[in-house]
Amino acid sequence: MTTPAAISDLRREYAMMSLDRHDVLDDPMQQFRRWFEDAQRASLPEPNAMTLATVDAAGRPSARVVLLKAAESDGFVFFTNYDSRKAAELDASGFAALVFLWKELERQVRVEGRVARVSSEESSAYFAMRPRGSRLGAWASPQSAVIPDRAWLEHALTDAEARFSGTEVPCPPQWGGYRVVPDVVEFWQGRPSRLHDRIRYRKASDGWAIERLAP
Ligand SMILES: Cc1cc2nc3c(=O)[nH]c(=O)nc-3n(C[C@H](O)[C@H](O)[C@H](O)COP(=O)(O)O)c2cc1C
Repeated sequence: MTTPAAISDLRREYAMMSLDRHDVLDDPMQQFRRWFEDAQRASLPEPNAMTLATVDAAGRPSARVVLLKAAESDGFVFFTNYDSRKAAELDASGFAALVFLWKELERQVRVEGRVARVSSEESSAYFAMRPRGSRLGAWASPQSAVIPDRAWLEHALTDAEARFSGTEVPCPPQWGGYRVVPDVVEFWQGRPSRLHDRIRYRKASDGWAIERLAP
């Protein structure tokens, strides 16, 4: 069997940094912000890109990338279309998982927890900050629906432009945010010989249990 070059590259050693129980903060959101700031300082192209995993009623998982827009003490916020596949699965199951990969720093963060829609005020406030083109696109695109062709989408955008010509573009009722409130957060730091460091926070009755997992 031949191994493509891009795959054989994965055999490289991870040796940049280490992570120990004593290195991490007591609160996982604070620890996340510390690592997120590291990713920003390292000028990674899109440090806020994260994989969002959902599960349908039959237990079938699906995953896609979305952009983190806030990471405050109460959880991880992203925005999307409430009529999309992900929204249906999030609303029905009430749970989500997130994965960040900052591979230049040899780091991964995994998050699991309950998910809920943010308030319509919060969604509208964020929507108002988006560029006009993105706001019109949100009106034009029935995210996750089957559409006939590209021309249909461009026509829908033209309709939205006409509808809101000369006025502000309000937040569509089907557009808004979700907040993932973590009960498990794991920080992974690559180490030599595949003996990676994994520090996992687990929500306990009296705060966060912090444990090391085998790689
Ligand atoms: C880098 C990147 C960022 C993205 N950000 C978002 C986002 O913030 N919100 C969103 O709804 N979709 C985003 N998408 C598109 C999603 O990956 C996905 O195609 C879309 O949300 C439909 O998913 P669904 O049909 O499973 O609901 C992004 C895609 C990429 C590659």
